[in-house]
Amino acid sequence: MLGVVFTEFMEMVEDEFSFDVADEIMDISGVGVETGFTAVQEYSHTDMVKLVAALHKVTGMEIDALITAFGQHLFQRFTVTHSQFFSGATCSLDFLENIEGYIHVEVKKLYPNAELPTFRCIRHAPDKLEMNYKSKRPFGDLAHGLIRGCGAHFKDDLEIERTDQNGPHEVQFMIRRERPV
Ligand code: HEM
Repeated sequence: MLGVVFTEFMEMVEDEFSFDVADEIMDISGVGVETGFTAVQEYSHTDMVKLVAALHKVTGMEIDALITAFGQHLFQRFTVTHSQFFSGATCSLDFLENIEGYIHVEVKKLYPNAELPTFRCIRHAPDKLEMNYKSKRPFGDLAHGLIRGCGAHFKDDLEIERTDQNGPHEVQFMIRRERPV
């Protein structure tokens, strides 16, 4: 997993909790203790799972809620760090539908070692998108949070119905956009 995901995660922990909590979860998990994290390095995705488990221990918050919150935070950060992907984008569902065929394709060019999931999308209607997440990594909650973050960014009111099909490795998201009246 790319170091940038870890640096963003630790920044979220420092901002939302504290520097002490950030240190504590590195101590408890044994991850990043010696050297911290750098954006250019790569780490095992299991290290992220260990950090989240440690954050759960320290804060008492549920693991799925913590990962989803991180997904929301990460999307907001992407709007700043990868602003090139947002020029001309106006609709959350169009944006989400383009993750597989455009955004993650470009991400792979920028970071050839990126390990990305697949999304099979079906646009049932202008305001209804089905996204089928599949990955070797267990980050259905992260996808959930990224989808929420996307709705928030475009100020779209999204209703997200989620069905886990193979634990957090394969998740179906049925997303409806509520039209503002
Ligand atoms: C501008 C928008 C986006 C950018 C720049 C982006 C970029 C990235 C990057 C750099 C990674 C890390 C790869 C690695 O660590 O090896 C990643 C992973 C991931 N992305 Fe995106 N992404 C974007 C939007 C989204 C959205 C909206 C979703 C959800 C619908 C999504 C779902 C995921 C998931 C779930 C992963 C974790 C890897 C996995 O599950 O296998 N991404 N993305």
